[in-house]
Amino acid sequence: MTDLMEHISSTADVTIPSDPFERIVGQNHAVTLVKSAVVQRRHVLLCGPPGVGKSLLAKAAATLLPPPTEEIRVHHNPLQPDRPRVSIVKRRNAPASAQNKTTRSSDVYYVRPEELPIEVAVKMGYRCPSCGSLSTPDQGMCLECGAAKRCDWVGENSYHGLFRVLHVIHERAMPRVECREERNGVTWTVSYERDAFDTIRVTAIAAATDDDTNNNTESHVIVGIDTPRFVRVTGGTAVELLGDVKHDPYGSAEGLGVPAFRRVIPGAIHEAHEGILYVDEVATLGPLQKHLLTAMQEKRYPIVGHNPHSSGAAVRVDGVPCDFVLFASANPEDLSAILPPLRSRIRGYGYEIMLSSWMKKTPEAIDQIVRFVAQTVVEDGKIPHFAREAVEEVLSVAEEMARTIDRQRDALTLRLRELGGVVRSAGDLAVHDDAGLVERDHVRRAKKLARELRVPDHSFASKGSHVIDMDDYGSYFF
Ligand SMILES: Nc1ncnc2c1ncn2[C@@H]1O[C@H](COP(=O)(O)OP(=O)(O)OP(=O)(O)O)[C@@H](O)[C@H]1O
Ligand SMILES: [Mg+2]
Repeated sequence: MTDLMEHISSTADVTIPSDPFERIVGQNHAVTLVKSAVVQRRHVLLCGPPGVGKSLLAKAAATLLPPPTEEIRVHHNPLQPDRPRVSIVKRRNAPASAQNKTTRSSDVYYVRPEELPIEVAVKMGYRCPSCGSLSTPDQGMCLECGAAKRCDWVGENSYHGLFRVLHVIHERAMPRVECREERNGVTWTVSYERDAFDTIRVTAIAAATDDDTNNNTESHVIVGIDTPRFVRVTGGTAVELLGDVKHDPYGSAEGLGVPAFRRVIPGAIHEAHEGILYVDEVATLGPLQKHLLTAMQEKRYPIVGHNPHSSGAAVRVDGVPCDFVLFASANPEDLSAILPPLRSRIRGYGYEIMLSSWMKKTPEAIDQIVRFVAQTVVEDGKIPHFAREAVEEVLSVAEEMARTIDRQRDALTLRLRELGGVVRSAGDLAVHDDAGLVERDHVRRAKKLARELRVPDHSFASKGSHVIDMDDYGSYFF
């Protein structure tokens, strides 16, 4: 019995890590490579049989992504409405007044009075306009030099002292200052608002690029700064992958219908800009693989209307950014259907990772399966925890699967979607019996049930059904 098994009476005693990589059972080699791939922005091909954690690895990789810094916009092009222009709005660090605090394209944070830019501090009454000393806004005169606060606004000698103080009091009643700051060509609208006497709430918005402000063109955000940059491609259509331009019965006729630039829809390759594009079963993309390859090489790809009978077909936006890290998955038997230059690009600029379907039965491996049972219970949320004897039974199922499917002795399966199916079925039986814990007998019955319920549709099993698709295993399993 391993350490973990000795110390638990049920899976309720097992600690579940919060780090998604630590929740991945086995596949240590893949975890190491995937982590470094994200940091180095390398492409990855995950190869392995169904249900061994390919999607799980890709999702875990997404948690390592730094926040995106670019928003993609499409603009009206007055000279050629059917050729909208593209621009990027950069997310910048916060203005110098709040160095060390990074901000998003729109962000809120708090600063102390001494961190305010001088003229903002003067306007808000925190600093003396003459000597710059700090004081609270309710002090109308500077205690250091005796000058009236905000006298720069009133005019040094234009008013007598009393009026000056009244004016200061009037101004002080507006404890909010808004200004524009230019940082590397990006305009920030920053508003400073007194939250408490010694805290100021700052709202910073990266308004637009110089280009936008100067030309004041109409624009349409197609990939927002806060859109999730983990994008999964499943359907494998040109529209889903490469984007589209919607149809409008009036086409681009001036003043009628929706202008072309507003009808532009980004593809998954664009939405994954600066992030991860996860293409499940990459071989099923067929001829679209060559477009994917071009996008990877160029890091920009045009958006065009794909339906030749639609007015969208006349529209084209060139140079739309798509600098993504590709995570592709494939079953080993489909490797030959992957476009050779695409595979070579992944090999040359990334990793081709083979996932294992079993692991040696070491004490660590046993502990990992125990943790997997606990994780499955917690993630499911509807089934009770497993008694220690029930966990032992799950371990024997894992061993049997490795022996019957992968012909490995003294090993445990890593086909964990299927093992998870047995765990959930056993849990359901325990719920049906009103049992407080899942017992050994529930697991045995779940195993038997899995043998009896053979469904031909694999996708049914993969959608979280508790029924296992036994066709994958032929006559090996159980
Ligand atoms: N290595 C693993 N560690 C922990 N859980 C796993 C692992 N592999 C599979 N699972 C469990 O099985 C489920 C399915 O895994 P996943 O979707 O990652 O498989 P896949 O390899 O992408 O399969 P497919 O080829 O069918 O897409 C996960 O949600 C998880 O519960
Ligand atoms: Mg998957």
